[in-house]
Amino acid sequence: MRTYRISGVAGSLRKESLNRMALRIASRVAPSELQLSVFSGLGALPLFNPDFEGSPSAAVTEFKQTLDHADALIIASPEYAHGISGVLKNALDWLVSHEGFVNKPVAVFNTAPRSHHAIDALNEVLKTMSANVVKPACCTVPMLGSTLEENQMSSSEVIGLPLREALEALAEALRELRDRKSSG
Ligand SMILES: Cc1cc2nc3c(=O)[nH]c(=O)nc-3n(C[C@H](O)[C@H](O)[C@H](O)COP(=O)(O)O)c2cc1C
Repeated sequence: MRTYRISGVAGSLRKESLNRMALRIASRVAPSELQLSVFSGLGALPLFNPDFEGSPSAAVTEFKQTLDHADALIIASPEYAHGISGVLKNALDWLVSHEGFVNKPVAVFNTAPRSHHAIDALNEVLKTMSANVVKPACCTVPMLGSTLEENQMSSSEVIGLPLREALEALAEALRELRDRKSSG
């Protein structure tokens, strides 16, 4: 069985971040063909400055290499004041001119059904950056306000199950992409 490397990033630096928790749960419930690892270096990225794109810092280089080695990216985004977090937007700005991001399969996870503004904005940013947003792999789960512990969320029908289904859809999209590449 072919396996796929998936990189997850959370747009929150908070220690108890629900978005990072969603990625941890995803790694637990993912089908075995997906190897999900969470990239935790967004907080180390300098503020984006196009002047430094030609001589990026080690943190930026590591971020780009992580992305290049991944078959797909999962972004778990919080909503701050009806927008995406500065941390996430800063990270994406470093990728705007990065060739490796064009057509990169991306799934978006949202941990709060009420937080649609940020997800709408994020989808617009990703479209503008020519990412391949895999819609069936995008998922909104009611984690914000939930009284469940993390391991209970993993087995929950409204959290773990939809995350698992989203990941199965991502695996299917990656299989189709691979088949298309090998036949074309
Ligand atoms: C400064 C700030 C602004 C926020 N603004 C919104 C908002 O506009 N809409 C919303 O649904 N939630 C808002 N929230 C709630 C966060 O989206 C929520 O707490 C989320 O879980 C944060 O992500 P994290 O748990 O990964 O850190 C805000 C939280 C903070 C700290």
